[in-house]
Amino acid sequence: MSKPVSLSFEETNLDLIAEAEGRVCVLVPVEGNLGQEARRVNRLTRGAVERMRAAKSEGANTGDVITMAWPSGMAAEAVDIVFLPRQCSFQEAREAGAKIAQKRGEQPLLVLAGNHRKAAEIAMGIALRDYGFDDHKTAEASEDARTVRMMVSKPDEIKAAADPLLAVAEGVFFTRDLINEPANVLTTTEFANRLDAMQSIGLDVEVLDEDKLAELGMGALLSVGIGSDSPSKVVVMQWNGGETNAAPLALVGKGVVFDTGGISLKPAAGMEDMTMDMGGAGVVAGVMRALALRKAKANVVGLVGLVENMPSGRATRPGDVVTSMKGDTIEVINTDAEGRLVLCDVMHYAQERFNPAGMIDLATLTGAVIIGLGHANAGVFANEDMICNQFLKAAATEGEGAWRMPLGKAYADQLKSRVADLKNVGGRPAGSVTAAEFLRRFVRDGMPWIHLDIAGVASVKTATTYAPAGATGWGVMALNRLVADQYEVSE
Ligand code: BES
Ligand code: MN
Ligand code: ZN
Repeated sequence: MSKPVSLSFEETNLDLIAEAEGRVCVLVPVEGNLGQEARRVNRLTRGAVERMRAAKSEGANTGDVITMAWPSGMAAEAVDIVFLPRQCSFQEAREAGAKIAQKRGEQPLLVLAGNHRKAAEIAMGIALRDYGFDDHKTAEASEDARTVRMMVSKPDEIKAAADPLLAVAEGVFFTRDLINEPANVLTTTEFANRLDAMQSIGLDVEVLDEDKLAELGMGALLSVGIGSDSPSKVVVMQWNGGETNAAPLALVGKGVVFDTGGISLKPAAGMEDMTMDMGGAGVVAGVMRALALRKAKANVVGLVGLVENMPSGRATRPGDVVTSMKGDTIEVINTDAEGRLVLCDVMHYAQERFNPAGMIDLATLTGAVIIGLGHANAGVFANEDMICNQFLKAAATEGEGAWRMPLGKAYADQLKSRVADLKNVGGRPAGSVTAAEFLRRFVRDGMPWIHLDIAGVASVKTATTYAPAGATGWGVMALNRLVADQYEVSE
């Protein structure tokens, strides 16, 4: 597992500023009085802070950072001046934190946050953007690269505000680690083991093996993993922090640890990206971790279908007909449309066993959603407006892009099969929508349901506001907020 940044909060001591090594970061309002820390840096640098603010004030925006290299009068290699008013939104504070983290290389960092109201959110932004996945680099990252100190006027108060945020960040990192991990390391068994280990933080975890899945009748899911030497598994994670017997929210994730396409083999170019095809399961796991770490007062169950899609002499062929747990028969036209085969059985099982209050599935389901929405938004499909709008609001608040897409009978009709109840692909037009319609068939009448197609957002080639290139952890913060806003019992 990657080692996240180590953040500590200490009481402001102006006398330590001149001697601080590495990077020092100071918050400066675009207008109005400087805080005492900024005044101290200004004095040490013979007025540089004020001069920079004056020069910048015309076009300065909240969150802008200017860097003073080797400031005379200070031991630091660099001082970052961050324009951030005391009255700012939590998103502005978090974004400023991310920018601060992005600026620093391997240097230790001292952030002079003083009495800034959103210091905990600044810490959250730093933590999120400071993530790196270097588990498979043989050179050890230096300790300096992991140390961030924040000077604040009330360390205990800020730490108390930061703790639940950093629990969520830890969930995000858990997701990112899983998604970044190569498929020879993160096999279905290794994935299940890492989830099982979350018993130690209070989750109730069960791992269902192939015999059990066969007994349950999960013929669709099993048909995907049958070509692989890694055994298929379903993992059930329960967090019961809410009222006893209150119906849980169910989160269901696609966990294809590697997607070769199976017999409908994918082209070689870019196939390595399919290590992230377990992204949906990764997000479900990260949300469950965050909920457990912050002891959320809600009942949530996370279920993931873990399989590997490989070609072999035993693999499912195009034209094969498989039977889902629900009983619907499916003609497999293309073995590369495997995610829906995994999800339909896990979704059916989730409803049968838990009778949830609502169900949200997440999957790196289609390339088509990337054609439609790129990497800025996940595709959102829902059978009901209320749960959909609650989710969209939570995602917007957390800055995780999400855009609603349609469903409809015309799309469902594209899935009609000559030989079975339905087929697993609906042709090229509206590929993401027909995939969603496939899933909808396995949602009970009256069950509020959202399908999130995260193929474009789970892992990206260029850094985002809160993540370096690679896995983003998209969805952990939005779902955590949805749970906090809609499912947690208030005291
Ligand atoms: N895992 C892929 C979707 C995907 C593509 C995720 C690119 C991330 C990046 C999925 O299993 C798949 O192969 N979908 C096919 C469906 C098609 C055969 C109907 C696709 O999108 O091409
Ligand atoms: Mn596929
Ligand atoms: Zn796939």
